[in-house]
Amino acid sequence: MASSPETYFGTARSRVDGPAKVTGQAKYAGEFEAPDLAHGYVVSSAIARGAISRIDTAEAEAVPGVIKVFTHENRPRTAWLDYNYQDAVAPPGSPFRALYDEKIQFSGQPVALVVAEDFETARYAASLVKLAYAAEEPETDVTRVRDLSYTPPMKRAGIKPPPEPWGDADAAFDGAPVKVRHAYRHAIEYHNPMEPHASTVVWEGDGRLTVYDKIQGVSNSQGYLTGVFGLKKDEVRVLNPYLGGGFGSGLRPQYQLFLAVMAARELERSVRVTLTRDQMFSFTHRPDVLQTVSLGAGPDGTLQALRHDAVSGTSRYEDYQEVVVNWSAILYRCENVALTYKLAHLDLPTPGDMRAPGAVTGVFALEIAMDELAYATGQDPIALRLKNYSERDQTEGKPFGSKALRACYEQGAERFGWSQRSPEPRSMRDGKELVGWGMATGVWESLMQKSSAQATLTADGKLVVGNSTGDIGTGTYTILTQIAADALGLRMEDVTTKLGDTALAEAPVAGGSWTAASSGTAVMKACRTIANQLFTMARRMDHSPLANVDFDRVVFRDGRIAVADDPSRSVSLAEAMRAGGVDKLEATESAGPDSSHQKEFSAYTHSAIFAEVKIDEELGQVRVTRVVSAVAAGRVINPKTARSQILGGVVMGIGGALEEEGMLDHRLGRVMNHNLGEYHVPVHADIHDIDVIFVDEVDKANPMGVKGLGEIGIVGTMAAVANAVFHATGKRIRELPITVDKII
Ligand code: MOS
Repeated sequence: MASSPETYFGTARSRVDGPAKVTGQAKYAGEFEAPDLAHGYVVSSAIARGAISRIDTAEAEAVPGVIKVFTHENRPRTAWLDYNYQDAVAPPGSPFRALYDEKIQFSGQPVALVVAEDFETARYAASLVKLAYAAEEPETDVTRVRDLSYTPPMKRAGIKPPPEPWGDADAAFDGAPVKVRHAYRHAIEYHNPMEPHASTVVWEGDGRLTVYDKIQGVSNSQGYLTGVFGLKKDEVRVLNPYLGGGFGSGLRPQYQLFLAVMAARELERSVRVTLTRDQMFSFTHRPDVLQTVSLGAGPDGTLQALRHDAVSGTSRYEDYQEVVVNWSAILYRCENVALTYKLAHLDLPTPGDMRAPGAVTGVFALEIAMDELAYATGQDPIALRLKNYSERDQTEGKPFGSKALRACYEQGAERFGWSQRSPEPRSMRDGKELVGWGMATGVWESLMQKSSAQATLTADGKLVVGNSTGDIGTGTYTILTQIAADALGLRMEDVTTKLGDTALAEAPVAGGSWTAASSGTAVMKACRTIANQLFTMARRMDHSPLANVDFDRVVFRDGRIAVADDPSRSVSLAEAMRAGGVDKLEATESAGPDSSHQKEFSAYTHSAIFAEVKIDEELGQVRVTRVVSAVAAGRVINPKTARSQILGGVVMGIGGALEEEGMLDHRLGRVMNHNLGEYHVPVHADIHDIDVIFVDEVDKANPMGVKGLGEIGIVGTMAAVANAVFHATGKRIRELPITVDKII
């Protein structure tokens, strides 16, 4: 293999899509125009459980400009009655089908779609749709159905169930000199990306559809639509060139996509359906999980028993699953371990993956419990974690491919000034404010998915690379541009990355922090194939400067192929193509995980998070004044976009610790604060210093040595803040968010 210097890999680069975003040229799903575009507005159920007994659309239909009102009574008969479709990340069960019948399964369920000539007319007419219900009492409180919880009979693909227990956790706990056992709970959270879910469906006239969808992977929408509507792949092109955030809410096709396509096909006309902010609370959320962590230890803090039990809410129609409890045995060494994970049915929409799904939940509980054990045994929280540091993934019985967590603790502590901490609660002050310092560990899977990518080099020296995955705001456009430029020795300005289009090479949804490894490797391979073609042509030139040189002796640099140890011998890419008689070179390659490496090693990303809080006890107000997040995520392609990912994760973690709370009225089964005025997320004034450290780590799971880091920033942050609040106040708060009422 030829070499190419890493001109861009590992360097901080601004987003190549930044100018398009800040100038408004970047278009989002609900912004695409089409001739004669009709607008749909969703009518949402007012009850959480029961049935529609009567639906009267006459008044709505009489409004001038209304084209049609779709309900379960008049919906078109399409292929969607079958479950014969693919949703790449669906849990086991029967996916929700909008307008299927009169049955109501959750509050906010779409019960009608009003289509009109313009959005305002559709919205107004929607208010005139009359509904009568036969309501039943909903159950949306997981604490009341804990006893009915069950182990999911079917496992969700890609989600590891808890391992079988080992040793005897209960006996070891009973016999342990030090015991810590508590219940932990966080609030239901809603994803709330800035961009609401929307689909613009362009009717192409011949039955073909071009769909702009809010989705983290267009191939998932395409698979859904071909299955649901019995269309062929070449009849549905789905695009999402830009996303205004996803956090997991865009992993699965949502009901506005179905409704917009249904209407477009029935009306033979282009249709857009955009959800409102309150409707953004009606299809997915981070589930409410009841957790108990039991730690038994020797007087020095060495773990003797570890139990982590969780009961998670799910819907009645799907068994949503995430990894909640396994993290405990991945992070800490223990000979007696029992982990359980159960589900309980609720009258809510199926929960969904939300940034580091399951790890946010489980690690929050575990890492507060570890802090409690540190105090119970008089240990420094870092020392306690080092004492129980696990060199192997006990859940799989494998070593880690890499684990630079010790360095995260060391470098994070150093940067934070942890050695200056006085361990006693309430012992640190700044004027009239209490000061608290807390820390926690973070962990997330380091994944790679099979992915393909294409590359096209033209004689003018311009390279276009890309695939169908989405850039959900994480910087994918930028890192793929860096990788491609390096692979062929081009300038980043000469490379264009195209994403989010099913017309491009197929790639999975952007999720699970796997995109850099998956799409990055595929792009690199496609570029290397082109490099090979170029080299072959260059060597065949008359009087080629590269004659008798092997491929592994050349280097791609500055638009030229040069002999590595004799740069005076070189051929420009354009010359090579001219000699080869081509004006274009194209390659499509796919890359997937290295199964032999996977068999041998477990792959995780780790972090250590340090948080400082300042608390005015009279006001009960908590400010997170400083956070240091030290992350070990293999090699970092772009420290600038990578840092942004960690910053965003930390901000979301601060939100989870102090603010985010989906408030349900369990009598109505309805989320009450379905707006950004009452569902609080951090604003600028809530966020102070956040310092990100990337710890060096060598990993061999993929050729670039990268690990996922889109999600790790949030994991452990909530515990670090809660532990800091304990240190400041002496109050152990085990239920998030930590609001004023819990402090005072
Ligand atoms: Mo992430 S929850 O995999 O979008």
